[in-house]
This record gives sequence, C-alpha cells and structure tokens, in this order.
Amino acid sequence: MKKYCDFLVIGSGIAGLSYAIKVAEYGKVIILSKALINETNTQYAQGGIAAVTEKYDSYDKHIEDTINAGAGLSDKQVVDIVVKEGRERIKELISWGAKFDKSSATNYDLAKEGGHSENRIFHHKDNTGFEVQRALVEEVKNHNNISVLENHYAIDLITQHHLGELVTSKSKNVECYGAYALNMNNNHIITIVAKTTFIATGGIGNIYQTSTNPTIATGDGIAMAFRAKARIENMEFVQFHPTSLYNPGERPSFLITEALRGDGAILKTKAGRKFMKKYDERGSLAPRDIVARAIDNEMKNSGDEFVYLDATKIPKERLEEHFPNIIKKCESIGIDISKEYIPVVPAAHYLCGGIKVNLKSETTIKYLYAAGESTSTGLHGANRLASNSLLEAIVFSNFAFQNSIKAIKNIEFRKGIPEWNDDGTSLSEEMILITQAMKELQQIMSNYVGIVRSNLRLKRALDRLQILFSETEDLFKKSVVTKDICELRNSINISYLIIKMAKLRKESIGLHFTIDYPSN
Ligand code: FAD
Ligand code: SIN
Repeated sequence: MKKYCDFLVIGSGIAGLSYAIKVAEYGKVIILSKALINETNTQYAQGGIAAVTEKYDSYDKHIEDTINAGAGLSDKQVVDIVVKEGRERIKELISWGAKFDKSSATNYDLAKEGGHSENRIFHHKDNTGFEVQRALVEEVKNHNNISVLENHYAIDLITQHHLGELVTSKSKNVECYGAYALNMNNNHIITIVAKTTFIATGGIGNIYQTSTNPTIATGDGIAMAFRAKARIENMEFVQFHPTSLYNPGERPSFLITEALRGDGAILKTKAGRKFMKKYDERGSLAPRDIVARAIDNEMKNSGDEFVYLDATKIPKERLEEHFPNIIKKCESIGIDISKEYIPVVPAAHYLCGGIKVNLKSETTIKYLYAAGESTSTGLHGANRLASNSLLEAIVFSNFAFQNSIKAIKNIEFRKGIPEWNDDGTSLSEEMILITQAMKELQQIMSNYVGIVRSNLRLKRALDRLQILFSETEDLFKKSVVTKDICELRNSINISYLIIKMAKLRKESIGLHFTIDYPSN
C-alpha cells in the first residue's frame, strides 16, 4: 500500500512533534512512531531546558559553559545561534501549553545543573519531559493535517537505490523520497512517498546494558541514514549520566536528575567519603564526563557496585516541591531521600554525534532533514552540557520547518517507487537468536566501549561485532521483517559507527577517554 504526504516525520518526541505542528500549516503530514506517541526519550527528561532569560545571566556565559563542557570541540557559530534562539523557542513551548515552574507570579524557578555557571534551566518539577510531551501531543491533536501512525516502524529510507540505481558512499546527490514502514498492527509494510522526510528518531541508549533511555532508543534513524549514505559523525561521544538509581534489573534505569546536585546533593563513596573535589574543583557539579569518570574510578578502586548521592541536607520542603517523582521512586524501593543516601551508578544516557546537519537542518541527502538526538549539529562538541539537548531539538526542528516549507514548493512526488520487496523470505523460527544477539551486543558495548576505553578493548569489540554482524545480515535476508530484527540490525550498525570513530580518535577528550592516549 502507498501513502503520500508533503512532510514525513519519523519520530514523535520533541523534535518530531514540534516540527509537525509547524509544517502542518503548509501541507499534509504523516508522523510515524514505532510505539505509542508518548514513548520517547523526551517524556523521560527530568532536569529541563536551558535558556538565557534573566539579567544576571548572559548569552556569553551560556556559550562559554557549552563550549567548556564540549571540551572546545563545539562549532562556535552553532553554539552562538542555538543559545540566542533559546528564549523564543521556550516562549513557543509555553504558547503550546507547556507549563514551567515559577518562583513568583512573574518569575520562573530556574534550576542549575552540572557545568552551568548560572541558574537557567526551565523545568516542570522533576518531570519536565513528561510535561513538554503532554503539551505537544495535545497540540498535534488539534491539527487536521497531521496523521499519527502509532506502532509503525520505519524500516528504511527510500532513495535512488530502490529505483535500481547504484548508490555508494561516494555518490553525490542522493535523494530521499520517503520511507518504508512496518505497520505492527497488521504486519504489512507500507510505502510512504513524501516530498520531504524528517528524521527525529532520538538516541541509542539501548545498545548498552544499563541506560536511562527507554527501549525505543536503538538508533534507527541514524542507521537508516547511514545505509542511505548520509554523513554520520562524532559517534564516539556517548554520554553516560553519572547518577542513575542503582536498582539492579530495572530497565530503563531511573534517572536521579542532576538538578538534585544543583540544589546541593553531594556524591559520596559507599563508606560515606566525599570524593569529587579530588577530580574537579566544581565538585559534584562538574560536567558529566568528569563526574561519570570519577564515579567509575571510585567504584573500580573500591570494588563497590555504586556510590551514594547525599540529598539529606536539602530542606524537606524543597525536596517535596521540586523532586516529587524522585521521592516517590526512591520510597518505592525503601529509601527516604530526606534521611538516607541514594545509591547511584553511571548509565548510558545521550549520544552527542549522529546524522550531520547544517544550520538549515539539512542532512547530506537531498529532501532529508533531521533534528534532535539523532543528529550531530556541532552544538555539543565532545560532551553535551546538561539540558542543552531539548533546546537543540526545538531550535533545529524550527530550522527544518523554515527550510522544508520553502523546499516543498519545488518538489514533485517521485514516480515509480516500488513496494517493499520481501521475495524469498519466510517467518523466522529463530526469534530467540535475535534476543540473544541483542544481549550479546549490549554486553560488548558495555564491557569494551563504555566510559573508559583502550585500543585493545575497541579491537575486541570490533572483532566480536563482526561475527554478530554477519550472522544478523544473514538472518535479515532470510526472515520476514520484524521490529526486533530491524532494531538488532540498526543497533549493530550504530555500534560499528561508535567503535570505528572511537578507534580513529587518538586522544582523550570529553566523553571519549582512552587509557592509551590519556589527557595531559
Ligand atoms: P525522542 O524523544 O527520543 O523521540 C524519538 C521518537 O522516534 C520516538 O517517538 C520513537 O518511537 C521514534 N522512533 C525511533 N525509531 C523509529 C522508527 N524506526 N520508526 C518509527 N519511529 C521511530 N535533555 C535535556 O535537554 N534536558 C533534560 O532534562 C533531559 N533529561 C533526560 C532524562 C532522561 C531519563 C533521558 C533518557 C534523556 C534526557 N534528556 C534530557 C535527553 C533528551 O530527553 C533527549 O535527547 C530528547 O528528548 C530527544 O528528543 P528527540 O525528539 O530527538 O527523540
Ligand atoms: C538530568 O536531569 O540530569 C538530565 C538532564 C540532561 O540530560 O540534560
């Protein structure tokens, strides 16, 4: 079956929905979501969105904080533009109904997180993402021009390759004509022919054993774009959040927001000793890469499975007002955070790299735009500053909006797009192999491509990945398309890109730390 639209949006998080709401004024929109519309990284965001709005703050300070956190690898022009756009984009979210906490009738209660020199984070208690997602979903429902296809899994982008032309990584002028998607409600594959396609598929946390990301985060958009020969970059910069709740077996790991440290919570060893000042003068509020590595080091030296976060000095009323969900979650496992320390461990959290986009949110493939966590914009450099990711997503989805509405005026639907070809495939009897392979992959990535890396570990990871790769490609060719096999295939592609780019970077910088090239 074929469907046609002006704007195909793959993903229903902050990037996808904020883009869809705007382009819906200019044409027909289809949003694909591989689960329910709300199941996104966005809805799990806790801390908030960074933006300069107060007199005590300045663009220069936010720019400097972003570049410092990024270890100097950020693109300065991009940082400048994103920081200056923040205020307008926050206003827009508010106009769509998102509510942020206030400290008085006219002032917002702005929080602070690691690496920020000022309080500048707009938040809704400790579940900002949930509130933002709620507001965006409500707004999307008001648009007749938008069709939301839940439980529809984008399998691959459609390019000249599907029309029988040879497309290689050297090909110039690759064009995107839409995507093939699996309707998981009836297992049919549909062909969506679109004038423009927007990738907003989010992150990759699920390729690690421990992650704050929901299981949808398998890097599908990046893998699809990679197969379609788009430029992918900075994949070695995987951010581990220092403080996820230590609760073995829970997936995703529950995040203990950095805003708790912003309000005064302190990291301590299991024996109750403060340790962060040994690593950085900013202590528990140093940028994430430094804190995660420090915790990793303390745990390795002591053999402990976690460290503690001590929030007992924060007044109880403040805890109740700002962190109700963390209180509730910790209570559910028997911890009263006003009296007891919280056990925490680092967990895979965010990917700084991804599909390369320019300041128009254009990828290197024609008619293909992207924004959000699946992209590499140049903002984060070697390490993302806390709460800069939701900001980046809304700023770049706005750029994509501005440019794709101009572009569609001159684009015709591509004719002759074939339906998905599944000749020669049969139902896989070996589903258990897919589950096992995913577990193996998570083990490889966690053991060898985590917070601390080395040449030997990366080589081991690549050697083991090669085996998984050839087994999975073989299985993919023979079996009917399922979400599980596609996710496994994509996760292998993503892991390959991370390992390859990590091997190429012969230095320790930001989130990429290797014992073979320690920093000076
Ligand atoms: P997402 O919100 O992840 O949405 C991705 C969408 O793509 C989903 O709808 C998914 O179903 C869909 N999708 C994926 N693959 C396919 C496919 N093959 N076919 C169809 N659909 C597909 N950032 C901040 O700035 N501040 C914070 O406070 C903050 N806190 C965080 C807390 C947690 C626990 C986590 C996990 C992240 C946090 N982040 C935070 C990061 C931030 O939430 C994400 O980077 C951001 O929400 C990503 O938005 P997105 O729109 O790019 O993707
Ligand atoms: C947090 O609340 O600590 C997460 C913020 C982020 O990832 O930007």
